Amino acid sequence: MRIILYLCEDFDTTTMIEKIQKLIEEVGALQAKNADEVEALRIKYLSKKGELNALMADFRLVPADMKKEVGMRINELKTLALDKINSLREAVQVAETAGDDVDLTRTPYPVRLGTRHPLTLVRNEIVDIFSRLGFTLAEGPEVEDDWHVYSSMNFADDHPARDMQDTFFVEAHPDIILRSHTSSVQARVMERQQPPIRVICPGRVYRNEAISARAHCFFHQVEGLYIDKNVSFADLKQVLLLFAQEMFGSDTKIRLRPSYFPFTEPSAEMDVSCTICGGKGCSMCKGAGWLEILGCGMVDPAVLEANGIDSTQYTGYAFGMGIERIANLKYQVKDLRLFSENDVRFLDEFESA
Ligand code: PHE
Repeated sequence: MRIILYLCEDFDTTTMIEKIQKLIEEVGALQAKNADEVEALRIKYLSKKGELNALMADFRLVPADMKKEVGMRINELKTLALDKINSLREAVQVAETAGDDVDLTRTPYPVRLGTRHPLTLVRNEIVDIFSRLGFTLAEGPEVEDDWHVYSSMNFADDHPARDMQDTFFVEAHPDIILRSHTSSVQARVMERQQPPIRVICPGRVYRNEAISARAHCFFHQVEGLYIDKNVSFADLKQVLLLFAQEMFGSDTKIRLRPSYFPFTEPSAEMDVSCTICGGKGCSMCKGAGWLEILGCGMVDPAVLEANGIDSTQYTGYAFGMGIERIANLKYQVKDLRLFSENDVRFLDEFESA
């Protein structure tokens, strides 16, 4: 009895409260990476030989008038430790399952696949047809200099196409422009390669036009160039006929009308028999039975010379077409603006194409 009294009087309650407070802070900050670590913490704090039981043993020595306060603190610590260890256990369980072959972060089915843009579909189809005819792909910059877009292509200095109405100039750099046609890629290919040259050049071009259903300030072209010995207009015609039949069907007919381009001589524009009525005349072809699809011609000897190719040895042909125009004929898109508005209701229509 004496001993117990002695112990009670001597018992340092303040140190015990401080110890509980330290444990509360410690438990609040506990962390665990896996189930084993959680179990180790449980043993450390909540098992028979754990911190909490040790406190309970000491609790018997707390003087009666302090029992209430110390008891409350021990309870606080106990609840906290139980909650903390349970929540750590749950957290590592979720992390461990997520690491299994089940990916809990994955978007549920059905996964919605994106679709290719109609202009990409048509571009790929054009490139594919010409690849089968031996053409290789060439590309060039959209921001170009005057030389590659105009001068090397035999445009006279005062040619109206250089006018502000057509060309976007880079402010303070009148020589730097946005290319207004993909013919600039012809120049870039010729300056680094001698014939035989057989390239197809798809790309975006820019013209200073008011935006409407029928015109836009940017659109897409595909240009073709073939230079070798003895290339003739008959070769051009045959390749274009093959292209038209692959693109629009084997019954398709073509016709060439004389035209003018600075970089080709002679030049022509090509029509295909109407893709809707086959030539009888309908609203699509405005009764004519024909639809214009591209410009073409024999490369002007002045262009060959300007680009370092001997025009006494080589001849060549070139052609250029608008991808939007071909897409319109294939899909009857009435308004050019739809191609650049990214309206998914429009784009979704090409899902199966
Ligand atoms: N570059 C011409 C245009 O933009 C098209 C074309 C290319 C015509 C090649 C003839 C030969 O209209």
